[in-house]
Amino acid sequence: MVNAVAEHPPSVATRAKAPGGLGRGAHIEIRSVSHRFELKGGPLPVLDSVDLELKPGEFVALLGPSGCGKSTLLRLVAGLEPAAEGRLTQDGADIVRPDPSRVVVFQDPTLYPWRTVRANVALGLQARGLLRQQRHRVDEALALVGLRDFADAYPHQLSGGMAQRVALARALVNDPSLLVLDEPLGKLDSLTRLTMQSELVSLWQRSGFSALLVTHDVEEALFMAQRVVVLSDRPARIVAELHNPLPYPRHRGDPALAALRHEALRHLGLDASW
Ligand SMILES: Nc1ncnc2c1ncn2[C@@H]1O[C@H](COP(=O)(O)OP(=O)(O)OP(=O)(O)O)[C@@H](O)[C@H]1O
Ligand SMILES: [Mg+2]
Repeated sequence: MVNAVAEHPPSVATRAKAPGGLGRGAHIEIRSVSHRFELKGGPLPVLDSVDLELKPGEFVALLGPSGCGKSTLLRLVAGLEPAAEGRLTQDGADIVRPDPSRVVVFQDPTLYPWRTVRANVALGLQARGLLRQQRHRVDEALALVGLRDFADAYPHQLSGGMAQRVALARALVNDPSLLVLDEPLGKLDSLTRLTMQSELVSLWQRSGFSALLVTHDVEEALFMAQRVVVLSDRPARIVAELHNPLPYPRHRGDPALAALRHEALRHLGLDASW
């Protein structure tokens, strides 16, 4: 059952790019996507007819029980593996392989310890042979995440939050039109996490990419995203979509957020105790 709490904000598709902002947000369509893994004991169905669209520049969060198939869905969107059934497109073209326009940031920043912050961020451009012409983008990306002064530091000299910001800069240097975030703040302490939530939202607002975030944190999803999609247990299917029309910057104490939180928890099967 799909439960629309509010209208989709019409401004999203036409949101103007900030000056100096990066590429326009991707239009992602996930149509009747089912997926399974072939295991020794038989197939393991993981996604069940998932239909989801991200308008250009939209910020969507996915919530769902552990092991339901969220990361798998992200992998399909990123083009890391093909869907067993259904179709995924970016701006109308089939997603068949990874592409620098779609970047994934994981929970663990996985920086190379022997490379400076700047050299870690430069990796994507270097791999694509673009570093010489586009070196300035590395410093731009570091500035976007507020780490220009740490360009020459090594990963062991950074805090967890800073390391995750480097991972974000490494993603942003590619000019993504889609940023895929798989629990990117999951390992941070709660205060850093709150700060990073606001920073990510402001990055998204300045840069214009579409964002697809997986998180276990209901408040985080509702604070950051314009739409929160709730998935069922495996095989994941969409059980609810909550639209959050609140403008940014949002206030955590907003009663509208509390109401949406209650709604989300109910769809996650946690209503009785909350
Ligand atoms: N490469 C794989 N081969 C076989 N099974 C897999 C593979 N990747 C994931 N799975 C299985 O698919 C199911 C969904 O996994 P997935 O990582 O997508 O869940 P998730 O929703 O991201 O979970 P979590 O919230 O714990 O991160 C799990 O049962 C997992 O064991
Ligand atoms: Mg996962």
